[in-house]
Amino acid sequence: MNDTTSEHPAAVLVGVDFGVPHFDDELEELGLLAETAGLHPVARLTCRRKAPDAALFVGSGKAEEIRLLAESEGAQEVLFDQALSPVQQRNLERAIGLPVNDRTLLILEIFAQRARSHEGKLQVELARLQYLSTRLVRRWSHLERQQGGIGGRGGPGETQIELDRRMIGDAIKRTKDRLVKVKRQRQTQRRLRERRETFAISLVGYTNAGKSTLFNALVKARAYAADQLFATLDTTTRQLYLGEAGRSVSLSDTVGFIRDLPHGLVEAFEATLQEAADADLLLHVVDAANPNFHEQMAEVQRVLHEIGAAEVPQLVVFNKLDALSAERRPRALQGEMTHLGRRLDHVFVSARSGEGLPLLRAELARRVEAAAQAGPAIPVPDQRLVSIGHNDGLHSRDTDE
Ligand code: GTP
Repeated sequence: MNDTTSEHPAAVLVGVDFGVPHFDDELEELGLLAETAGLHPVARLTCRRKAPDAALFVGSGKAEEIRLLAESEGAQEVLFDQALSPVQQRNLERAIGLPVNDRTLLILEIFAQRARSHEGKLQVELARLQYLSTRLVRRWSHLERQQGGIGGRGGPGETQIELDRRMIGDAIKRTKDRLVKVKRQRQTQRRLRERRETFAISLVGYTNAGKSTLFNALVKARAYAADQLFATLDTTTRQLYLGEAGRSVSLSDTVGFIRDLPHGLVEAFEATLQEAADADLLLHVVDAANPNFHEQMAEVQRVLHEIGAAEVPQLVVFNKLDALSAERRPRALQGEMTHLGRRLDHVFVSARSGEGLPLLRAELARRVEAAAQAGPAIPVPDQRLVSIGHNDGLHSRDTDE
């Protein structure tokens, strides 16, 4: 039985396996998302289905099972690992008798809590308003508090819903207008930076891969690093002096990517992600100790594609070397791999212990020097598209032949 007096509302996590590869049986990522959003997961339930039920997402028997589980655990809400349609969400709430939320809202909620910059806040606000406009849910206290005026409790009548819809529509328009202004300012700043012709490196990677820790280890700054998802939302940029090349580069830490990132948010974070598309080099940080690192890498490539950063040269940094068991440790810390048909160089490091970092710095210096020799406007010619291969990095021990 859960302690419902705890300040973290108790939540039951539900995942439905539709036969997708690498289904997260333990709902580990959803659990971490829930904790990051300030909830306390008290029970997890998974089931299999061929396809979602149009009305309830799961079958009615399963919905009843969830209701009983939530009751016995004293849960205050139920969280689904997949996106629910507004109808499914409403029907599930009726069947279970508790607020039911999905992964999309959870991610939105975390983004709302974390955004720091003016632009970041506006962007999250916009994505959240767009999500709300299709559902008019009114129970997420954080959302209600922050959006002021739109919230309110109890079952609204049609008139109230219409009123809310109009208010949300107005708020969306206002937010969009404000964003246009902020974006214009940012473009001016970017042009100024481009004139300086600094070699720009951006860290990208799946959430929790260790980007901020690596950023800190490289520049000895103190960007926020935590075992929470999306600790970093806004871009932090610092100068990194590479003694090996005798020059400085700019290094940016960006927002973490995640599977099923709500589309509105990819768009919303376009500005932050734009930093990646404009970079001369992407350091694709991968949590090598995560059993799903492969899918996570593919997800990152997908988002990079979506934001127009697919062609930016990429160096894969397999992080958390210290957490790999002896048999998973690579023989060589540096090598080449094929990922989704693309040949990529990689290095293994531990941002925590510092192992491999000198090698990474040397590789960065090498690329910066090559770029300087090629002239400021020409990117480093280090990537080729090749036919799809099966050498996937971690398993290839002799990647540096
Ligand atoms: P987001 O902001 O969510 O995108 O995360 P991030 O990629 O910036 O990850 P962050 O640096 O916040 O690290 C996530 C967790 O991994 C933290 O608990 C870190 O302490 C841990 N971590 C980072 N690097 C290493 C490493 O080299 N080894 C080990 N064992 N843990 C690490």
